[in-house]
Amino acid sequence: MDKQKVFVFDTTLRDGEQSAGVSFSLNQKLKIAHQLQKLGVDIIEAGFPRTSPGDLEAVQHIAKEVRECTICALARCIKGDIEAAWEGVKDAANPRIHTFINTSDIQIENQLKKTREQVLEQAIESIKLAKRFTSNVEFSPMDATRSDKEFLFRIIEAAIAHGATTINVPDSVGYAIPSEHGNMFKEIIERVPNSDKAVFSCHAHNDLGLASANALSAVQNGVRQIEVAMNGIGERAGNTALEEVVMALKTREEQLGVYTTINTKELYRTSQLVERISGMPVQWNKAIVGKNSFRHGSGIHQDGILKKRETWEIIDPASIGIPNGTQLVMGKLSGSHAFAKHVEELGYQLPEEQMTKAFEDFKNLADKKKNIDDRDIEAIVAQRTGEVFSPKWTVDHIHVASGTHAIATATIRLKDADGNAKTDAAAGDGPIDAICVAVNRIIEADPSLTGYSVQNVTEGIDAQGTVVLRIKDEDDTFYSGQASDTDVIIASAKAYVNAVNRMLLMRAKKASMAQ
Ligand code: KIV
Ligand code: ZN
Repeated sequence: MDKQKVFVFDTTLRDGEQSAGVSFSLNQKLKIAHQLQKLGVDIIEAGFPRTSPGDLEAVQHIAKEVRECTICALARCIKGDIEAAWEGVKDAANPRIHTFINTSDIQIENQLKKTREQVLEQAIESIKLAKRFTSNVEFSPMDATRSDKEFLFRIIEAAIAHGATTINVPDSVGYAIPSEHGNMFKEIIERVPNSDKAVFSCHAHNDLGLASANALSAVQNGVRQIEVAMNGIGERAGNTALEEVVMALKTREEQLGVYTTINTKELYRTSQLVERISGMPVQWNKAIVGKNSFRHGSGIHQDGILKKRETWEIIDPASIGIPNGTQLVMGKLSGSHAFAKHVEELGYQLPEEQMTKAFEDFKNLADKKKNIDDRDIEAIVAQRTGEVFSPKWTVDHIHVASGTHAIATATIRLKDADGNAKTDAAAGDGPIDAICVAVNRIIEADPSLTGYSVQNVTEGIDAQGTVVLRIKDEDDTFYSGQASDTDVIIASAKAYVNAVNRMLLMRAKKASMAQ
């Protein structure tokens, strides 16, 4: 049987914005919406226009500018909400109205203070009104997983009969468990007589940490739209994380028999953007996009990775947009193999006996010190070999210009050990790229920057940023560089020159050995 597509409905800008402490400005919403379009989501739920004039305006802008996705606006089953939702999306290339009403008795009786029959009537009237504006109408029976099943079947049948084309069955309070969630969809699709006339959708919340598992179970039982948010942000414990379900569907595509059309190479960039704009930090061990997702600490794992990456990684970090994302973390659990590889990246070639001794020193230090960085490893190597790393080049002067409408340029003066200076300038795709190009001109070589991170940013006006980066020489050998400064741009230049010096040192060693 042909594989079927699962549509990705992103609600970062609506349910995601409901995260306590998160509020997006119009420009921030637009930025995220454009990035979601690049990521290839099918539907963007851009907002809930009735809630504020600002939200209406943001939805309108997104509808006008983001043309490759369906743009959806949320509305309660209330006339004014539906009219506002239409005001928001009417200029979209593909507009959708998403209307919802509570269907669990606990919410109908205590919150709406209505009867089931009144709720059913209100849902039908609202869908009829939405249909006057657009053929693309989604209906959600809210708190579906705690609703009476027979009532749920009735209201879904009525919604489809009156023109809803997508039926989203939300686990609004994150109460469901995966097998039950999947069975609920199976039963709905089997028992609702007109279920073949609508696309079924799931919307899982993460109160029990089961949102992704529930979404997968729903897909296995006939759901073809998943409602998700980037980094899993959303009301309370959040929504289903887009990156998790998309990568589960991709990684296990053969078993699941479905696919999405997400451009997974944009996942990491989207995650970073949402993290930055929302101010909600992604936890280190977050699946797919967390800082530790591709960092390996154990010696056994590091050894396996060095032999074949797939021994300990089910996803290639490059496939989600982290080039050279696999990292072997130097610490007390690291093995000799990973240590030796790291020492080589620092530009040292040690005879086996010295390497063994250096590894022993490293292990002793790692027992005492939690964060070991390249400076520590360098000190160990220097002690064992007497070899002190003497850089060929140092940064003497740097001037970088960049801005929203300007091409980034860098002017750099490097000095060699004898005090001779060389200056060059270059333009680039951003200040870091400009720095790398200018340095490459001076050293007359063409290594490429393959990994870059800013770490250990301290607090206060004299805050220091440490830049750790990796470069690749033309012969595919990697070198790392590190530097700190109160200005991260200067730290970046120094770190790049630091890596370049190691590369030049190793080149010289290789050349002398070849003679
Ligand atoms: O969680 C929920 O039920 C919702 C609806 C508005 C779909 O967010
Ligand atoms: Zn929700």
